[in-house]
Amino acid sequence: MIIRPATPGDYAAIRPLVQAAFATADHASGTEADIVEGVRAEGAVLAELVAEDAGEIVGHALFSRMTCDPKERFFAALGPIAAAPERQKAGIGSALLRAGVEICRAAGAEAVVLLGHVSYYPRFGFSSEAARVIASPFAGLDAFMALALTPGALEAPVKADYPAAFG
Ligand SMILES: CC(C)(COP(=O)(O)OP(=O)(O)OC[C@H]1O[C@@H](n2cnc3c(N)ncnc32)[C@H](O)[C@@H]1OP(=O)(O)O)[C@@H](O)C(=O)NCCC(=O)NCCS
Repeated sequence: MIIRPATPGDYAAIRPLVQAAFATADHASGTEADIVEGVRAEGAVLAELVAEDAGEIVGHALFSRMTCDPKERFFAALGPIAAAPERQKAGIGSALLRAGVEICRAAGAEAVVLLGHVSYYPRFGFSSEAARVIASPFAGLDAFMALALTPGALEAPVKADYPAAFG
């Protein structure tokens, strides 16, 4: 299996993969594939990765640029992230997440923010405590977590909004 940037040639395969993965999730909105396409359309993609195995797309992760205040702050949002239903719990999600975080770090992002399951993301260093300085409609939720990529990134108050496609 390899993790690589998504290309336009992958887009047709990404939609059904994301839909199938989220059909297995208890918290799915059913709009996750639309969100991916909407973020692309608004030009807010920071990193879009796929996991490919034997020529088949078996995983996908999107990292997008958030709108911050102060506007010179640079935060990334992770999501949606998906592994093919028959390939879950085999390390695909972890590999996509780690690779994407490193791309965000290299791009200069100060932090990565997500809404996700509290039993999954803390193993990668994300925490709701770290997200406390972020003004957001999701502030205060246990599922709202952040990971600092630069020293002090999550010390001064900052407002960070998801791309419009997230609704
Ligand atoms: C979440 C997801 C991307 C993780 O990818 P994955 O390849 O299955 O995960 P990994 O193999 O890297 O990690 C497996 C671990 O994650 C845990 N895990 C996976 N999905 C989880 C979830 N939704 N909630 C809690 N834990 C989860 C597994 O229980 C396993 O834990 P363990 O190592 O303690 O046994 C994948 O399961 C998926 O596509 N789920 C449906 C869509 C979804 O919920 N996306 C995330 C939205 S927050």
